[in-house]
Formats: sequence, structure tokens, C-alpha cells
Amino acid sequence: MNGKFISIEGIEGAGKSTQISFIHDFLESHGKRVVVSREPGGTELGEQIRELLLAPREAGMSEDAELLLMFAARAEHIHQVIKPALQRGDWVLCDRFADATFAYQGGGRGIDRDRIQAISDWTLKGIQTDLTLLFDLPVALGQSRVIKRQQQKDRFEQEKADFFEKIRDCYLQRAEAEPQRIKRIDASRDIAAIQTQLADILTELLAA
Ligand code: TMP
Repeated sequence: MNGKFISIEGIEGAGKSTQISFIHDFLESHGKRVVVSREPGGTELGEQIRELLLAPREAGMSEDAELLLMFAARAEHIHQVIKPALQRGDWVLCDRFADATFAYQGGGRGIDRDRIQAISDWTLKGIQTDLTLLFDLPVALGQSRVIKRQQQKDRFEQEKADFFEKIRDCYLQRAEAEPQRIKRIDASRDIAAIQTQLADILTELLAA
């Protein structure tokens, strides 16, 4: 694999979208070809699975179905998009990847970590992010940003604060356990401060 793989994580309202454009432009200005994608999604099949996963009408979906659909979408994404891009030498910038499953389905829903790890090992086949940027902020602040968007809340956004507290804790534990790969960004700061930190982290990765 010649390219590098970056994922963006965080609870709802962490401001991922704004920062993804910044990271994309930063890497391109340093001569990298960048493929921007997202999970669940990123392929035709994956986007259809995303629609099922996010639809409020699926409120009764079982935790196991949710977990397996996340990995079904991911398997297709790795096969069609991520692996070919990295093999071409492109950089992949993905809005969420496997850490989201540990945080949401593990931390949030309470599915056993070892079970997720087993499916993850099987699906990822050694693919892992070179860098994961965790946009971290208090749950209440994230939720107030989501409310301002004024669009219908998806199935995850409709969950209560307690669900997102567990997800946030899980993300933070993962960042602590893997400080080289997962970098915590304090997303409660203003955009300029966040982008200064991002530029430092990306400069380091470009030099690696
Ligand atoms: P997004 O709206 O940030 O793109 O993400 C879609 C939702 O899917 C978000 O609420 C997080 C959730 N999700 C999981 O629960 N598990 C996963 O593995 C992924 C990738 C996303």
C-alpha cells in the first residue's frame, strides 16, 4: 500500500464536515491525490445500507443487525474504494471507519468488544488507518449544534444524551490506548485553533 488512510471520528455535532474540506485541501496543496469517502456508505451498495441504518422508520432494528450491516457496508467499501485507492498511492480521507463501530455499537449499544474485534479482523484483513482524528467535544455542545441544523434527526441522532456519553467515553479510551494512531482534537474550540492543530498533525504524517 503506497497511500495513507485517514479517518475522521466523533459524536454528532463535532464539526467533521467543515474539517474534512480543510484536510482535503491541505493534502492536495501538498501534492497528494485524495479520495474522500464516508461510512456507512461510499459505494452504491453501502449508500443503500446507510439509508436503512439511518432511517427513523427502522427504530426497532436489532443491535446485531445494526452491527452486521455496518460491516457489510464496510466490506464493500474496502473492496471497491479503500484498497484500490491505497494501492494506486492515493490518500483516503474517510468520514468514520471501524473505530465508530467500537464506539457506537460497542460503547453505545453495549455489544461485547471481543465480538466486534473478531468481525473487524475478518472484514478489515489488515487494513487499518494510519491516522484517526477524533473530534471530541462535550455531548451537550454537540447536541446543540445538531439541533441548529433543523433537518429531521436520523435514527442515531434521535438517541438520548446518555448514549452519546458512552460513545464519547469509548472514543477517548481508544485514543488513550493508541495515541500514535488516534489523535484527539478539542472540537469545542474555534475553527482557526482546530485547523492549526490539524496542520501540525498532517505535516508530521506527510513527513513520515
Ligand atoms: P454520520 O452521520 O456522521 O455520517 O454517521 C452516520 C451515523 O452512523 C452516525 O450516527 C454514527 C453511525 N455509525 C455507527 O453507529 N457505526 C459505524 O460503524 C459507523 C461508520 C457509523
